[in-house]
Amino acid sequence: MSTTAIVGTQWGDEGKGRFCDVLAEDSDLVVRFQGGNNAGHTVVVGDEVFKFHLVPSGILRPETICLLADGTVIDPKVLCSEIEELRGRGIDTEGLKVSGSAHVIMPYHVLLDQLEERSKGDRAIGTTARGIGPCYADKASRVGIRVWDLVDRDRLARQLGQVLPRVNVLLEHLYDADAMTVDEVIDQVAPFMGTIEPLVVDGRALVMDAVASDAEVLFEGAQGTFIDLDHGTYPFVTSSHPISGAATIGTGLGPLDLDAVLGIAKSYTTRVGAGPFPAEAFDEDGDRLRESGAEFGTTTGRARRCGWFDSCMLRTAVRINSVSSLALTKLDVLDELETIRVVTAYELDGELIDYVPSDPEAFGRCVPVYEDFAGWQESLVEARELDDLPASAHNYVEAISTLVEAPISAIAVGPEREQTVWVEDPAEG
Ligand code: GDP
Ligand code: IMO
Ligand code: MG
Repeated sequence: MSTTAIVGTQWGDEGKGRFCDVLAEDSDLVVRFQGGNNAGHTVVVGDEVFKFHLVPSGILRPETICLLADGTVIDPKVLCSEIEELRGRGIDTEGLKVSGSAHVIMPYHVLLDQLEERSKGDRAIGTTARGIGPCYADKASRVGIRVWDLVDRDRLARQLGQVLPRVNVLLEHLYDADAMTVDEVIDQVAPFMGTIEPLVVDGRALVMDAVASDAEVLFEGAQGTFIDLDHGTYPFVTSSHPISGAATIGTGLGPLDLDAVLGIAKSYTTRVGAGPFPAEAFDEDGDRLRESGAEFGTTTGRARRCGWFDSCMLRTAVRINSVSSLALTKLDVLDELETIRVVTAYELDGELIDYVPSDPEAFGRCVPVYEDFAGWQESLVEARELDDLPASAHNYVEAISTLVEAPISAIAVGPEREQTVWVEDPAEG
């Protein structure tokens, strides 16, 4: 039995949800360890499309326990509507658990996210406006509301009595908005308490027990390495840590408890929101990738910025996350291209480098150096084994593996479960 973390190695939307759904079939426990409903994880099962924002993608497997762990942030309204939608579609949500230590996205966090973004004008981050940043800011300031507080009305009133005066200073004096009262806020979240209360567990104890009893545990990362609060392109980042280290911090395990890290990488690069993106293709190449890959956000519907595969980013992400193997997704999106470009290095202030510099302004000055690969110009969507791939597709995948210094354990050639070429078992580490 083993523990495997699934993480995004680019800017999010690499296809983490689809791999989580597939690997959840053999997992006892699937754990979201960071982020909230800024995530949009798509899982396609036959004619059905599921878009998960908060509920772990393992929920489609009735035998699997799914946990929103300590490091996540939970909007009660979104959680309840996602549960209701799943139940309405006949999905058994009995296995869903919520850690009492997770922080709660309160109505004022959502409002503050929107007001902060608006006030930044052309320096806006382009957040998902779901209240993620303000909720994590309150957590770090030690004035957050946790799920334990949410499901106990007296405890909630007490906490709100302390935090709302601070919130109201911002609302009234910085943003010229209306103040909120404790009763108003409680009225807004009260309808969800009844649904959430029976789901609440000691998340850390649950995960520790699972690991101690040799269960198969999957950690479902959200977002991606380069929007990590420390290692991303600050300030154009999210407010949590989407990297593998957070699978331990966000759950209560120790660093040596992770057996394998499966990095998910798209066969090209996309980004939603503002911030540097050296490989961005502003020409028809970018438009073609966006159209063939249907690159429009799962959460906000925004068009994703597109560019070629960037091996400097991946090489850096492999190290940040201790990636033991990669799953390469959306290879089929490149099917029709005559030539496929890959970033192999950057030119930075007259020097060649092969990694992402930590200073985001230096990253913004990086000029990509490309290598061109011949396309295969045939459909890969039916490929199931390595031998089904044409020589030029083989060549592309092998070149990427060499450039980024990581083995590739799986290649996705379509959004469906079976549209996967398995090269090796990602849990082998
Ligand atoms: P996540 O946030 O990392 O889970 O990724 P998203 O769900 O936001 O975005 C990935 C999109 O690509 C979804 O619409 C998936 O259904 C789709 N997708 C995933 N893998 C493949 C693939 O190999 N080929 C194609 N064509 N689509 C894929
Ligand atoms: P998944 O899990 C892509 C981006 C936003 C914005 C920045 C900060 O589907 O890969 P936030 O609302 O988190 O404060 O926004 O982060 N962002 C994502 N981009 N995929 C995601 O999640 C994202 N979650 C946040 O677009 O640039
Ligand atoms: Mg997504």
